Amino acid sequence: MPYYRSAGEIPRKRHTQFRSPEGGLYAEELMGVEGFSSDSALLYHRHLPTAIVNAEVVEDHRGPLTPNHPLMPRHFRTQDLKSESQQEIDAVTGRRTLFGNNDVTIAFAVATSPSPLYRNAAGDELIYVQAGSARIETIYGALDVADGDYVVLPTSTTYRVLPHGETRLYILEATGHIGPPKRYLSAKGQFLEHAPYCERDQRGPGEPLIVDGTDVPVLVRHRAGLTRFTYANHPFDVVGWDGCLYPWAFNIRDFEPITGRVHQPPPVHQTFEGPNFVVCSFCPRKVDYHPLSIPVPYNHANVDSDELMFYVGGNYEARKGSSIGLGSLSLHPSGFTHGPQPGAAEASIGVDYFDETAVMVDTFRPLELGEAAGACEDPAYAWSWSGRGPG
Ligand SMILES: [Fe+2]
Repeated sequence: MPYYRSAGEIPRKRHTQFRSPEGGLYAEELMGVEGFSSDSALLYHRHLPTAIVNAEVVEDHRGPLTPNHPLMPRHFRTQDLKSESQQEIDAVTGRRTLFGNNDVTIAFAVATSPSPLYRNAAGDELIYVQAGSARIETIYGALDVADGDYVVLPTSTTYRVLPHGETRLYILEATGHIGPPKRYLSAKGQFLEHAPYCERDQRGPGEPLIVDGTDVPVLVRHRAGLTRFTYANHPFDVVGWDGCLYPWAFNIRDFEPITGRVHQPPPVHQTFEGPNFVVCSFCPRKVDYHPLSIPVPYNHANVDSDELMFYVGGNYEARKGSSIGLGSLSLHPSGFTHGPQPGAAEASIGVDYFDETAVMVDTFRPLELGEAAGACEDPAYAWSWSGRGPG
């Protein structure tokens, strides 16, 4: 994330004396990726960011993953994942695992209450807000987010999610860094003219939050599991920061679709890249305008990826005639050729606009199924092209 930002108070020169009105030195912290060789930010704390008073193991409730075996195309209905009325569910401890592999864990949360302070030290997180709205408070400042927002939270960003009512979140926890596709960036990191979004569409944190507090717990996810640190002082004590590494938000409605005379392949919808996965946004758009075009996709065998489509708006053209609705997830794995539902290709001829919004994740290694996937699977989907299953 190379776009330089600055917020709050910072000294004119880095690594020089910077004092509070009372005369004490602020504690400078460099948060940087790739070992001082890539993007970073300098943050100025009122207290030592190193001062912990306790560290405890926290039980991890993620549960096991199950291979997609027998290999099947699958349909999951996140719309059936409800918040329990008497239970407080937050966007961190209330995450339910849908899918995962060694590169990424994909979870869903129906959040209704504030989360604890949290930091994912294992990789970047990308949160897609399917419904509702929330304030995401971070060590850098707050981001106000609502439906359609993607939120990129760099590795080790301390944050908490404060939902306004019920907020439905689709969460990718990567094991590395997530950012815009490199082909859309100049050598110095500016979005190029052919990029479907640019700096003007990105929203950074507002002014730093200065929160007082002592003995403050922060839940940390790391490769070995979960640890709860207790900090002597509240981590949101930053008076200012600058740099090119910070959380940011981007709304899917600001993605400008790339269209053509004939069907454009999914990479035109690519929005982010992560370690061994990509994220694409299928947005309402004019579609293929060749006089003989077929606007829905051809059948395709993505031999190197599992394709996970999350249907979040409109009526997805290629899935008309199936049981897929808003909130549905389809998983089309490598090893299975997938394509439009029966009749969808013919029905799409002459259509010039698709009113559909979907978030696609393509992983380059197979996805396994988590507890939440088992809880909301529609078992009939695999037979929807033939119209009959083994029974
Ligand atoms: Fe596909």
